[in-house]
Amino acid sequence: MIRTILTYPNPELKKKSVPVTIINDALRELVRDMAETMYAAPGIGLAAPQVGVHQRVIVIDLASKDEPSELIAAINPVIVHAEGEAYEEEGCLSVPKYAANVRRHARVVVKALDIEGVERTWQADDLLAIAFQHEIDHLDGILFIDHLSALKRELFQRKARRAAEESQ
Ligand code: NI
Repeated sequence: MIRTILTYPNPELKKKSVPVTIINDALRELVRDMAETMYAAPGIGLAAPQVGVHQRVIVIDLASKDEPSELIAAINPVIVHAEGEAYEEEGCLSVPKYAANVRRHARVVVKALDIEGVERTWQADDLLAIAFQHEIDHLDGILFIDHLSALKRELFQRKARRAAEESQ
């Protein structure tokens, strides 16, 4: 089932998510729905709070349209090592029609449980490293726009307010 993606400035996006304590059918259904919602958007990553569920679950799939899907579903993901610097353009399904460069680590090691409850480790670089950092941020109520300079964030907020006024 495709779920509704919450968008900025919905306050639900600012809340911190809690760790998953039990992997049951309801959680597996959440992961299925999140993947379906991400593919339909379309997007390359989605975190549970973006669909209003404050549990530490993320999905990522970087495969392009003509490649077979490569779904990563990570439960209680933690960055256990980070190094290097990246400065790439990011967007977010919860911040439509806006993109900006964000400072991130270039390489991260992420530990998480998979959907079977088995601990997995990902050594990520390039886009996957950025995707992990972006999605894990969502679990702590952080959006990519929160990483921008005060000036850039102010410009973004002005644009968002104007768009909101125009849509009324
Ligand atoms: Ni996002």
